[in-house]
Amino acid sequence: MITAALPYANGPVHIGHLAGCYLPADIYVRYLRAQKRDVKFIGGSDEHGVPITIRAMKEGITPQQVVDRYHALIKESMEQMGISFDIYSRTSNKVHHDTASAFFKKMYDDGLFEEKESEQYYDEKTKTFLADRYITGTCPVCANPNAYGDQCEKCGSSLSPEQLINPRSALSDAVPVKKKTKHWYFPLQNYEPWLKEWIIEGHTEWKNNVYGQCKSWLDSGLQSRAMTRDSNWGIKVPLPGAEGKVLYVWFDAPIGYISATKELTDQWADYWCNEDTKLVHFIGKDNIVFHCIIFPSMLKAHGGFVLPDNVPANEFLNIEGEKVSTSRNWAVWVHEYIKDFPGCEDVLRYVLCANAPETKDNDFTWKDFQDRNNSELVSIFGNFVNRTWVLMHKLCGGKVPKLHEDILDDKDRALIEAILNSKFKIQNYLEEFKFRDALFEVIDLSRTGNKYMQEKEPWIVAKKLTEDPTVQKGIDNCMHLCLQLTANLAILVNPFLPNTAKKMLNMMKVVEKMLDWENAGSVKLLSVGYSLREPQLLFRKIEDAEIAAQVEKLKAGLIKPKDQAMEAKEPQTSNLKPEIIYDDFAKIDLKVGTIVAAEKVEKADKLLKLQIDLGFETRTVVSGIALHYQPEDIIGKQVVVVANLAPRKMRGIESNGMILMAEDKSGKLHFVSPGTVIDKGSSVS
Ligand code: MF3
Ligand code: ZN
Repeated sequence: MITAALPYANGPVHIGHLAGCYLPADIYVRYLRAQKRDVKFIGGSDEHGVPITIRAMKEGITPQQVVDRYHALIKESMEQMGISFDIYSRTSNKVHHDTASAFFKKMYDDGLFEEKESEQYYDEKTKTFLADRYITGTCPVCANPNAYGDQCEKCGSSLSPEQLINPRSALSDAVPVKKKTKHWYFPLQNYEPWLKEWIIEGHTEWKNNVYGQCKSWLDSGLQSRAMTRDSNWGIKVPLPGAEGKVLYVWFDAPIGYISATKELTDQWADYWCNEDTKLVHFIGKDNIVFHCIIFPSMLKAHGGFVLPDNVPANEFLNIEGEKVSTSRNWAVWVHEYIKDFPGCEDVLRYVLCANAPETKDNDFTWKDFQDRNNSELVSIFGNFVNRTWVLMHKLCGGKVPKLHEDILDDKDRALIEAILNSKFKIQNYLEEFKFRDALFEVIDLSRTGNKYMQEKEPWIVAKKLTEDPTVQKGIDNCMHLCLQLTANLAILVNPFLPNTAKKMLNMMKVVEKMLDWENAGSVKLLSVGYSLREPQLLFRKIEDAEIAAQVEKLKAGLIKPKDQAMEAKEPQTSNLKPEIIYDDFAKIDLKVGTIVAAEKVEKADKLLKLQIDLGFETRTVVSGIALHYQPEDIIGKQVVVVANLAPRKMRGIESNGMILMAEDKSGKLHFVSPGTVIDKGSSVS
């Protein structure tokens, strides 16, 4: 049973989500499937909790509308990236409501909760109890002024609302008051001795980052934790007298793994209640405590379920040296990547796996993305496969040539051995969740193939006109082994780059069955005399301009803190200038013009020098839009020009007029243009 953290359906997924959790899970699952192991891969949307209700409030829509929108978007992104869930469910499903309710009820009936009334922070303006992310304040550990009531994202400390300094309501910014409320608490301290034995003594093989976090939690002592919240969005607490109370999102969401399995198969209990089951949770580091301490304690308390065998959590992936921030829009969104680089899903999988934050936070840069594509996928892996195919068609008539055992030399034997060794190395790495090392090993094997071919030089040997039959035999052997190596590469790369493996299958004209893991290591995969298809390019080069555009997009999309503050204060103040009369307005001559040329102004990173054709003349206008638009992207654009503005020199260039731009909340500029293309020189009034 393999699970990947259920993402909150409160926004799209970004590449950090993929690198942290979904991609490693998918690689592992594809590897297990290739081994014919009985595996189910569970995913879905986490649709309850504060992240959803806050987003709904911000957008002025209902929580249901929020989850409907993002569940669909996330599900689609996952599919497009080849994350091969057996089911991608959602926690608003009835099966889940029933399952989570029953789970809670059983624990309640067994007397495992403490019922407590306490004073909690309350926002009188919005009439809301402020738990978790409803409340913000200064972190008592690192002084971050924007820590949440459950966690500080800066230093990673887990917090309770009471620990925040200068607490504020995240909904209204009001200073909260205290108010009495009743909740059901799960006494985690009762499970401490058991957890210590199970994790600290029993799971020393867990990754250092995971084991370390568990140890520090257990060392500092566990406390009762409320498993219910005051809210009307979530799963109703199934007890009399619990109106207005729902299950805590971290109580219901992990049970979602079980509910989704129920939805998938009637045999669900085989995967959750059978001692032979190996349960593995793939998550990001901010989820460690929930998957290693709280959920296992719940499973143990409830009884009848297997416990996680491993929880291979990853650290975080930064973007261009900075922490991902969804609120500042510092992220690479998966659905946008797919649009911008169609057919390059495997490239992203490759780069994210190669840079996976397995042991520490890691960095994604567009430059590295390009380098890895061009100098590893294209120049090493792709090049080897392509060369093999082209030469096989040229020197062997498009068929798999014979292997002449009698003249096998040391180089041939070394290659055969390298293929077998790689299989075992990759397998061992995968079993230990070392996906980067495993992937490097695959690339390394293709590098070995290139080297082998370079040493054998079959294309030169073929030019030597000779009667000596061993010459053709030598070529046969070289090409035969390169083809068998390609077949092996397809099997080994399949968990990482499934689309690439498919293309390779097609070139080899073989069926998917060949990708079974047990076939790896063999050099008898393609039969002698079998004719193969024409080569197909596996990867394309990625150009500088594509990379520059992505970096630009990232920077242009960034929302600055000032804008964020403005966004929070809705409705916005009108900010109107003093009243004018019509005659004031009539003095301004506005004309429609077409941008016919644009270039950057040297040493002024905000300015573009534009040539604008107004029909009756073409003018130079210097405009401060260079951070928002590339010169080549705006040629032909129609704009509205203030045509009778006195000339003004900027950076030594005389500017004759201004163009109208609209600024959105995030500070991005947009052209004001006629709704359709009209005559140049048309008046605007
Ligand atoms: N929604 C949570 C997050 O994005 C993860 C939930 S994992 C589950 O951090 F186990 F609770 F489902
Ligand atoms: Zn902090």
